[in-house]
Order: sequence, then C-alpha cells, then structure tokens
Amino acid sequence: MDLATLLAQRRMCRSFDATPVDERWLDDACATAMWAPTAGNSAGVRMHTIGADLVSAYLARATDLEWRRDSPRAPGLARAGAVVLVTSRPQDYLERYGEADKRSSGLTSIEAWPIPYWHTDAAMATMALLLLLEDAGWSSTLWGNFRHDRDVLDWVGAPDELLFASVLIGRPDDNDHRSRSLERTVPARAARVRRVGISPEPSP
Ligand SMILES: Cc1cc2nc3c(=O)[nH]c(=O)nc-3n(C[C@H](O)[C@H](O)[C@H](O)COP(=O)(O)O)c2cc1C
Repeated sequence: MDLATLLAQRRMCRSFDATPVDERWLDDACATAMWAPTAGNSAGVRMHTIGADLVSAYLARATDLEWRRDSPRAPGLARAGAVVLVTSRPQDYLERYGEADKRSSGLTSIEAWPIPYWHTDAAMATMALLLLLEDAGWSSTLWGNFRHDRDVLDWVGAPDELLFASVLIGRPDDNDHRSRSLERTVPARAARVRRVGISPEPSP
C-alpha cells in the first residue's frame, strides 16, 4: 500500500477482539519506529512493550476503577492485544545540548526550551509506530498522558522517564464507540496548508 493511502486509512480503534500481538514482532516494530528523527541524535525516546497477558495489569494502573466499571469503551479496550508506552528522557536532551557543538543553543535547562524536543521526538517515533502497525494490519488507539502516569512508569520500571503516550493495539471487533472528537467541525486538511505569499480567498 502506498504511504498516502496508509496515512488516510489509519483511524483510532477503541474496541478490539482479544487477538494477541506477537511480542517479538512488536519489539522489532518499535525498534524500527526508532528510525524516526531525533533532535541532535539525542536518542531520548523509549518504548516499553506490554504483551496481551499484562494488558489488564496495565489498565489497573492506568485507569480508575469507575472508568473500568462504567465506561462503554472499557471492555473493548481491555481486549487489546498489546500496549506500547512511549516515553522520553528530557535529561538526554539537556546533556546533548550541553555538548560542545550544541552549547551555544543555551538549552541546558528544561525551562530554556521553547519547544521541548523530547516531546517532538516522542511524537515522531509514535507516528512511525502507528504507521508500521497499520501497515501490518493492526489497529490502534493512542492515549495521551493525563493521569496515573507516575504509577504506570513505576510499574514498568521507568520512574525517571516521562510518559508521552500509550498505544493500545489489536484487531477491531467492529464494536467501536466513535469518538465525539470526530463530530467537531474543523478546517479541511487542505485548508490547514497555506502557501506563503498568496492572500487567502475573501470570505463570501
Ligand atoms: C496527543 C494525542 C492525545 C490523544 N489522546 C487520546 C485519548 O486520551 N483518548 C482517546 O480515545 N483518543 C485520544 N487521541 C486520539 C484522537 O482523539 C484522534 O486522533 C482524533 O480524534 C482523530 O481521529 P483519528 O486518529 O481516528 O483520525 C489522542 C490523539 C493525540 C494525537
């Protein structure tokens, strides 16, 4: 499949059929995703893979009891065949940008970064992983980091890292609960691209 089709075809899926993802294959896919660009070759992104047998233990840390009991999405997501936690290590970026060839950037403290590149790198590697999964016939959903991140990181043994996102992976079971985010009226994709030097069309 060509890349443009793959990109357009990838959609978040939030209900799976419990097919386990081969763990060795997933580890390899994550390593391949690490071909994504990394600022200054800081290489500060990590991926922690969680096999099907540990998905419920992961959810016990990542979610609230009320959510697991009440959310219509909980059963379908609990049937994920694997999870990947994408994390980053800001300390690697501070160290790299303190090296002789980068020191003039002035980026040796967290506060100095207008765009924290550890998030940028994590996003690039995550997108690469989403495309590799789609290409291999897997569906996935991405959870941002909004709560329980410290518990989850302690559980996987990475307390010094930041949890950028969690990717839940599986085969769709066609019971997806469509995201309300998709009901939003947003500018068309092409309208989010602007060629510099050309005035926008006047509104009718
Ligand atoms: C940074 C980020 C955080 C997201 N967090 C969540 C989340 O916590 N839960 C969820 O169901 N979807 C989450 N999503 C998925 C978006 O809702 C989804 O990408 C968007 O609605 C567009 O749908 P599509 O990816 O199927 O095209 C997140 C996506 C991104 C990029």
